[in-house]
Amino acid sequence: MKFFIDTANLDQIREAQQLGVLDGVTTNPSLMAKEGITGKENILKHYVDICSIVDGDVSAEVVSTDFEGMVKEGEELAALHKQIVVKVPMIKDGVKALKYFSDKGIKTNCTLVFSAGQALLAAKAGATYVSPFIGRLDDISTDGLNLIAEIRMIYDNYGFETQILAASVRHTMHVIDCAKIGSDVMTGPLSAIEGLLKHPLTDIGLEKFLADYKKGNA
Ligand code: E4P
Repeated sequence: MKFFIDTANLDQIREAQQLGVLDGVTTNPSLMAKEGITGKENILKHYVDICSIVDGDVSAEVVSTDFEGMVKEGEELAALHKQIVVKVPMIKDGVKALKYFSDKGIKTNCTLVFSAGQALLAAKAGATYVSPFIGRLDDISTDGLNLIAEIRMIYDNYGFETQILAASVRHTMHVIDCAKIGSDVMTGPLSAIEGLLKHPLTDIGLEKFLADYKKGNA
């Protein structure tokens, strides 16, 4: 299972990269705005900065909603760096754009996916990744993990190569449950990744080992 970090914060990306388990980064316009990155030139430069920190795929989202606009923006984004994956919303022109980019060999991430039908369309259009937003579904009393399971079954039935990228991951249990279901990738905050290493028995055990070592080597 690939681990992506869902942020535009360079310090957090660096920290996750230094842990040695990071496979990529996802961003969106809200995450860029949160870091105060505004203006086209600054936004494009920020994507390149992110690519220089990580080795894997970096999703950069288009903000056009018409086919021509998405194609123009997506091609510009893809030309920035070989690690860039063009993030396209699940709307009608978005599906057309996914097919266009797929035919041109440009990697894509279909975002804002909330149903199995949308995921099926994204795969048919040749998306590299599909991003079901599990946290936002949980927020409205709908089982986000169930959507991951449905998509897994559909993709496996037909051998679709589109990778399931569980997005809107909020906490450590989301990560574990997505791994159990067989999600190809998860993207979440640094806290969800770091949460995986925590266990009180590890801390208690280490404290005892070190105390016993000290006694014997005083
Ligand atoms: C990822 O690609 C999405 O942009 C992101 O995971 C959305 O997460 P949120 O629901 O926490 O905003």
